[in-house]
Amino acid sequence: MCAAIYIVSTVTGYVLTSALLLKCPTLLHRRKRERFLSKHISHRGGAGENLENTMAAFKHAVDLGTDMLELDCHLTKDEQVVVSHDGNLKRLCGINANISDLTYAELPPYLCKLGVTFQRECFCEGGEDKRIPLLRDVFDAFPNTPINIDIKVNNDTLIKKVSELVVKYDREDLTVWGNSRNHIVKKCYKENPHIPVLFSFPRVLHLLGLFYTGLLPFMPLKEQFLEIPMPSLLTNLLMRKALFQHLTARGIQVYIWVLNDEEDFQRAFDLGATGVMTDFPTRLKEFMDRNGISKPQ
Ligand SMILES: *[C@@H]1O[C@H](CO)[C@@H](O)[C@H](O)[C@H]1NC(C)=O
Ligand SMILES: *[C@@H]1O[C@H](CO)[C@@H](O)[C@H](O)[C@H]1NC(C)=O
Repeated sequence: MCAAIYIVSTVTGYVLTSALLLKCPTLLHRRKRERFLSKHISHRGGAGENLENTMAAFKHAVDLGTDMLELDCHLTKDEQVVVSHDGNLKRLCGINANISDLTYAELPPYLCKLGVTFQRECFCEGGEDKRIPLLRDVFDAFPNTPINIDIKVNNDTLIKKVSELVVKYDREDLTVWGNSRNHIVKKCYKENPHIPVLFSFPRVLHLLGLFYTGLLPFMPLKEQFLEIPMPSLLTNLLMRKALFQHLTARGIQVYIWVLNDEEDFQRAFDLGATGVMTDFPTRLKEFMDRNGISKPQ
């Protein structure tokens, strides 16, 4: 009897404390400082409206008023940081070669027409700009636009060079970086802890476990950005208003990717996501304008 009362009261205490801290996380954790807030995020610069990861795409998105550019990085043979999603150029350029085996000068141009990865049977016809840009070119052109950098390969030189560029261009407060692989994120954080990191995939699973056991409100988190892929098997478990509310109250932004239609935009914002990554920046902009979803302050 006594033991039962003890167990019941302990469990009740745990559940109540967890629920209280879930709602009011700042009782335990210092809120992370948000250096910027992004609602409108252009995935690979908006891969449905321009050739992905080109300067033309980034310019179009920034002219439209996007809050953030999302892009991917690789390292060439002569150790230049370039912006490209794939390490092998077959899909993008029609040539079976790896970026890491070519110098920057040797990189071929993109094809005229590229498939849009997250939109079935959709191709994007590009304009004049078919060049794989240097990360430096993007930093030069858009000194005030936050950028989400996916570090595509586990290469120490790449991580070091990106960090050096971010520091040189004074962009520590305008950057989030990482990858779905945890060892890359760990290396990024170790290389430069002043640049915010995103949750890797294993850390997303860990976060889910913590959330559903009620432990999350007690745990410190180093990441500042949760980026949820949709659709995925995990999406339904992750798309929880209480989770988003808890994370955003801790200063952790929640982005959903890659959403390309209005129903999904609506659902994401209804659940309290901070921002949406899209291949169609114009479509998202029009949706936000029509629904009075304003730019973040
Ligand atoms: C590109 O790199 C991958 C992985 O390192 C390797 O398996 C592949 O053979 C390379 N492709 C070419 C064309 O060299
Ligand atoms: C990193 O990339 C550079 C350039 O492609 C290459 O020379 C180097 O061997 C790579 N380092 C590692 C550890 O893979």
